[in-house]
Amino acid sequence: MKILIINGPNLNLLGKREPGIYGTMSFDQYFDSLKTLYPIVDLSYFQSNNEGDLLDCLHKEGFNQDGIILNAGAYTHTSVAIADAIAAINSPVIEVHISNVYKRETFRHHSFLSPVVKGVIAGFGMESYRLALEAFINQD
Ligand code: DQA
Repeated sequence: MKILIINGPNLNLLGKREPGIYGTMSFDQYFDSLKTLYPIVDLSYFQSNNEGDLLDCLHKEGFNQDGIILNAGAYTHTSVAIADAIAAINSPVIEVHISNVYKRETFRHHSFLSPVVKGVIAGFGMESYRLALEAFINQD
């Protein structure tokens, strides 16, 4: 099973960025622990701060992954282009958020992506990614 994790803007700073909200672990550390926990999954990871690079990645990978776990960061709340890319590809996408966006500012309550993804997981810290992975593994 091929699963790609895509992180959007500012998520390269996980571990340093607002640790009270996003925790103290870097994504590289967390990604290594996921690979150890799920050796049967062909797991890869891409991060970019640029919307166009995220679109290019979705276009390139969105026809050959069994699933994509996407944390689009702030683009979740702004990007019609990312929503259109998700609608255009074949691979199912799970939208994830580390924080519970519904407990935060109202501008974080709207997602352009939610209507075009398979499901949404938010608020479980870094474990949101693992729960999304479990959802792909356990689907029929
Ligand atoms: C986030 C929530 C977004 O509102 C924010 O812009 C992020 C991270 C999360 O993982 O909780 O960058 O997607």
